Amino acid sequence: MKKGRTKGRERWGTQLGIVLAMSANAVGLGNFLRFPVQVADNGGGAFMIPYFVAFVLLGIPLMWTEWGIGRFGGRYGHGTTPGMFHYLWKHPLAKYLGAIGIVIPFALVLYYTYIVSWTLAYSVFSFTGAYLGIENYQGMVDFLSAYQGKVSNQYFSGIGSAYLFYLITLGLVIWILSRGISKGIEMLAKIAIPLIILFGVVLVIRVCTLGTPDPAYPERNVLNGFGFIWNPDLSILSQSKVWLAATGQIFFTLSVGFGAIQTYASYLSEKDDVVLSGLATSSTNGFAEVCLGGAIAIPVTVAFFGLAQTQEIAASGAFDLGFFAMPIIMQQLPLGQLFGTLWFFLLFLAGITSSVAMAQPLMAFLQEEFKLKRKTAALIIGVVILILTQPVIFFLKYGFLNEMDFWIGTLGLVVFAIIEVVLFFWVFGADNAFKEIMAGADIKLPRVFYYIMKYVTPIYLIILLGFWFFQDGIDVLLMKGVPAENYAYIWFARFLLGLILVVMLISVRIAWQRKHVIRKRVP
Ligand code: ALA
Repeated sequence: MKKGRTKGRERWGTQLGIVLAMSANAVGLGNFLRFPVQVADNGGGAFMIPYFVAFVLLGIPLMWTEWGIGRFGGRYGHGTTPGMFHYLWKHPLAKYLGAIGIVIPFALVLYYTYIVSWTLAYSVFSFTGAYLGIENYQGMVDFLSAYQGKVSNQYFSGIGSAYLFYLITLGLVIWILSRGISKGIEMLAKIAIPLIILFGVVLVIRVCTLGTPDPAYPERNVLNGFGFIWNPDLSILSQSKVWLAATGQIFFTLSVGFGAIQTYASYLSEKDDVVLSGLATSSTNGFAEVCLGGAIAIPVTVAFFGLAQTQEIAASGAFDLGFFAMPIIMQQLPLGQLFGTLWFFLLFLAGITSSVAMAQPLMAFLQEEFKLKRKTAALIIGVVILILTQPVIFFLKYGFLNEMDFWIGTLGLVVFAIIEVVLFFWVFGADNAFKEIMAGADIKLPRVFYYIMKYVTPIYLIILLGFWFFQDGIDVLLMKGVPAENYAYIWFARFLLGLILVVMLISVRIAWQRKHVIRKRVP
């Protein structure tokens, strides 16, 4: 064995398993809930142009970058970015920058898993007919608000059901983590991805055969729904908001800038290909997003509510199309309960696989840097997530979740992506980085990507960060438009994120000190 190569790390079982697990990592609520809302809220077809530009210039290059960094780190026995960055940049700061790659997915998992649990609940509610009979928009708003414990009404008098579904979801996540890479995560992906595609295709076929549901409104039809997504109104492209939204969607949907792809890639073996598999993952995610995610919620809502109202619904909130419009529409279809169940269970499968991926970096960190047993690490993570999610659950109505999502799910991803691209292509060196990505590749990466990854991607990211910060960041920072009674909760959300970061930095320090001591002791 060559120096620095570690034996005994867990590995993916098969090549197909790798692509399925990575796709399961990426395909999530972003593809089916977030994407349609972003498209509808940002001009329909016009959104797709910056979306594809960002896919090629940021998404795919970052995907290859993260696969490359991950496989590189795995070779040295590190499944998380502190260890990976340590080998990319021989500087004491490197490992601390890497700590961000554990903080981001961990902070995300705190609220993402809670949202995933709503989809599980709604698939059960669809099946049992719990919301049957609520046929107007406000009714569905009241139903979800009561479920979330924001209000008490005839549907729910407390947060008990939401809490129960959350415990079940978190329990499943922890159970899968405790089973390990090939027996847990890979196995789940092998079941979940085919089911997601199957359910997605069934729903798309149903949507495509809807025609014009109400002849009194001939313009409300499925074709107009597809037309809205695929006919770009080019005048909208001059708005920076559309470019920012499309780029943010690429980050979120591909799970790049998280730290989670690197961890999965660390379980590759040295000979495993990165180029083709990274591309296959990005394409599977793109298929799930554009061909399935884009062909369900928007066309169906346009067919039932018309274009103007669809845009209004999308503008009112991230969950409104998926949790309000869809259940109302499904009830009006023959076998509506079944289709409703399929829709929400699809969301659940897509979401839970991503939750697992976001928790795995901390798992790897505890197992590798603190030598904890897999089951112990999973248990600790479960307890910590449970504790730290309490404010997300109970302070939802005060904007706690949204605040976390802005700093982590929007800004944090771009900041971390800048750090990793600069470290890999500028500090470790573009030639080394390119060689690292190409090692074991089944296809040759076109040279143009060398220049894209070295120059275009980092510049694009820095411009993006600047725009974001000035356009949204300052307002969010100064809590513009936030009701005064929410201030304390917003500050608490920031404090919690800061605390997670500090604890992670200290943990990295302790882990490295221990390593130093162990190395000294071993002759
Ligand atoms: N990439 C994951 C999603 O789309 C996080 O939901």
